[in-house]
Amino acid sequence: MTRPTTFASFPRQWTPVAPASALAARGLLARTVDSVPLVFVRDNDGKASALVDRCPHRSVKLSLGTRTPEGCVQCPFHGWRYDAEGACVDIPFNSDARKQAVRASVVPCREAGGLLWVFTEADPVEVVPFPE
Ligand code: FES
Repeated sequence: MTRPTTFASFPRQWTPVAPASALAARGLLARTVDSVPLVFVRDNDGKASALVDRCPHRSVKLSLGTRTPEGCVQCPFHGWRYDAEGACVDIPFNSDARKQAVRASVVPCREAGGLLWVFTEADPVEVVPFPE
């Protein structure tokens, strides 16, 4: 279960967060935007994604975990893995677990002008188009 995430000061805006170079191909990057902790990860094609930096299981910071070779974020506590869409793709030692019922909150992310941008709403219904 995901908790609601609010960007109280500037909701529903595209905002720059960090230089794109700060997110290594095989690493994670933690940043806080308007008091909302985020973790960035790149998939194996180099596309950046942003998740709320809170494991849906026990709220541990995902940024303390690792990026898996598949481009997922693995929580450091119990090892649950989340893909770039926030879907839980593995719960170690519990093959019967209902992974489909678990989802990390996702924040829309773009890379443009050498910067990482996020849209300040988690799991939005409608994203304002990124200004080109
Ligand atoms: S707290 Fe993240 S897997 Fe348990």
